[in-house]
Amino acid sequence: MILVLRMDVQLSENGFEFGEDADSWQAVTFLYSAAAKEVMTKLEILNDEFVKIHKYNPIEHIKSRIKTPVSIVKKLKRYGKDTSIANMVEYVNDIAGIRLVCAFTSDIYKLSEMIGRQNDLTVVSIKDYIKNPKASGYKSYHMIVSVPIFMSDRVVDTKVEIQIRTIAMDFWASLEHKIYYKFEGDAPGDISQGLRDCARMVSDLDAKMLSLNEEINKYK
Ligand code: GTP
Ligand code: MG
Repeated sequence: MILVLRMDVQLSENGFEFGEDADSWQAVTFLYSAAAKEVMTKLEILNDEFVKIHKYNPIEHIKSRIKTPVSIVKKLKRYGKDTSIANMVEYVNDIAGIRLVCAFTSDIYKLSEMIGRQNDLTVVSIKDYIKNPKASGYKSYHMIVSVPIFMSDRVVDTKVEIQIRTIAMDFWASLEHKIYYKFEGDAPGDISQGLRDCARMVSDLDAKMLSLNEEINKYK
């Protein structure tokens, strides 16, 4: 409880610097881990229900993570914002992040619709990088949702970023991420080109796997 009260104080102070007060940091991370847990449970329930009804598992695996203080500060700097708790709550949407990995692109849209139908979740924004891939070749479906966290004396709406992608997209993104960091965002032309080629192969593979799966389903 003490942690929560301290956070109230800190949230109203714009000039707060990370590291000045470890308790406030802990209070905020507490909230975001609670939000990640809430959303994880919801997704597991949706998946279990889907398995029960359709005898089919739309989620291959789920990962959840809380952004490190260093990454949060980096992002705020990139956005040209001071490193305050208020700014991090307002501008950093992916402090709590969940990644859903599916077998097929069709599962991605099924899951996003199921998430959108949850009454106690608010969809804050959607970015469909499958319909509109990034120049790098990056594909994924991103949702920012807000979930109410019920504490003993109040309710705090907390944002969680959900990234939904296929196994193939995930494979591509993890290599791209590694290359991005290795070259600090400035990879040699042939490597970037190679990645874009792979992104095309990933899309082809996803499309082929989907149509094969539809073909197989006809035999049921
Ligand atoms: P940031 O890019 O995170 O500042 O936020 P944004 O509002 O631009 O959101 P965006 O949807 O572009 O990216 C959010 C997250 O998606 C990132 O933190 C990454 O985890 C992932 N992502 C976005 N673009 C790429 C990409 O080109 N490659 C990889 N590997 N991941 C990406
Ligand atoms: Mg971005």
